[in-house]
Amino acid sequence: MGLLIKGGEIVTASDRYVADIRVDGGTITGIGTNLEARTGDETLDAAGKLVMPGFIDPHVHMELPFMGTVSADDFESGTASGIAGGTTCIIDFCMQGAGQTLPQAIEEWHKRSAKAVTDFTYHMAITNFGPNTPAEMREVVEKHGITSFKVFMAYKGAIMVDDGQLYLIMKEAAKLGAVVTVHAENGEAVWNLQRELVAAGCMGPEYHPVSRPSAIEGEATERALMMARLHGTTAYIVHMTCKEAVHALERAKLAGQRCYGETCPQYLLLDDSVFDKPDFGGSAYVMSPPIRPAGAGHHDSLWHGLANRMLDSVGTDHCPFTHEQKLAGKDDFTRIPNGAAGIEDRLLLLYTHGVLGGRFDLSRMVELGSTAPARIFGLAKKGSIAVGMDADLVLLDPAGSRTLSARTHHSRTDRSIYEGFEVRGRIARTIASGRTVWDGEKLTTTRGAGRFIARQAAHFSPRSGVRP
Ligand code: URP
Ligand code: ZN
Ligand code: ZN
Repeated sequence: MGLLIKGGEIVTASDRYVADIRVDGGTITGIGTNLEARTGDETLDAAGKLVMPGFIDPHVHMELPFMGTVSADDFESGTASGIAGGTTCIIDFCMQGAGQTLPQAIEEWHKRSAKAVTDFTYHMAITNFGPNTPAEMREVVEKHGITSFKVFMAYKGAIMVDDGQLYLIMKEAAKLGAVVTVHAENGEAVWNLQRELVAAGCMGPEYHPVSRPSAIEGEATERALMMARLHGTTAYIVHMTCKEAVHALERAKLAGQRCYGETCPQYLLLDDSVFDKPDFGGSAYVMSPPIRPAGAGHHDSLWHGLANRMLDSVGTDHCPFTHEQKLAGKDDFTRIPNGAAGIEDRLLLLYTHGVLGGRFDLSRMVELGSTAPARIFGLAKKGSIAVGMDADLVLLDPAGSRTLSARTHHSRTDRSIYEGFEVRGRIARTIASGRTVWDGEKLTTTRGAGRFIARQAAHFSPRSGVRP
């Protein structure tokens, strides 16, 4: 039995037009006008709706062991939350645990992700570069189909890599045609600032941003891009928050370097006044890098970057913790688990504040939230609407509106950093692999229905990219 989606306005990164879409199994098999339903086909009237490729979140952490606890959404609840918000594919971070080889970490992650309700893949996070790492990196790419790595330049004493390791990871990744994604903050400076603040008795969540000023992010972004430039590696800077980082990326791009930048809705829409909420309420917003002050040019810099293509994608860094979990840092902000939920809210926040806010058009929104993540990370059958592509689709009803709240979201955390935000539009339907999994009101997901998507590395000629 096929599915015929009639009369919606198809929006891709390049086009907008009214047409019908035929889906058979998990694949788009036809696009045209006046397509006829065949016997047994389900027909869906999409008149008045925007039909977009399912959104892809290039940055999430499901059931991440981190800072003495585990992020509150597992692969089932986290991907289901994504579905309710129009996200049909995620890229999680497979973390190399202490003493683990990279293939061992993948084996562990495959067990966790077996319950995902949407398709998924991982970036491979290297937390310790040893003598066998180059061979393991090759295996990760060539045997496991994981073609992007991750390095943390912060979280000293836990998952941070030093400059020597960063250099070597960039070098090996370049040989493999893999992308290196980077959490860019100067971890040594953060660590020292944290110690100084704690010694001075500054213990509340409001000191979290004080310990991680924007210069720390700007410097690390510059350094990561320099390391990538040395080897001709494709770099992707995750969760960019500030003008210093955007400017570093701009300089690299304008010099011809192959590099990409991602930001997240929280850095576009929130400011550091959130840390002053009473009753330890500021802890819900503790994430790294931190939410930046208003009026300092950071927010404008991010919005302009998205519009003028100096930034490439919008992820969420979905990494939720409950209030109970955040209480681990009640007396010391450095112990508050870093992270918040976001996967369910990204699309409507971008629609409301990006498109209706006049900052970019619908096609650019699709590009930022779906097409660019697919292209950058090699998800060849996702990120667009065309015959032969995966039938991952989201139908947005522009006439809808709602108020975001932890009371109504599908994440397991009891906090929403967008509590009370009014958004326009409504996710009227989400289709994953050809099946309706959200009908606008309820989820009809199947535990374990998501597939691991193996990818192929992009090999560029040795002369491409900019070298020093
Ligand atoms: O605070 C954050 N961002 N938590 C998740 C881990 C990371 O740094 O992405
Ligand atoms: Zn990070
Ligand atoms: Zn993250």
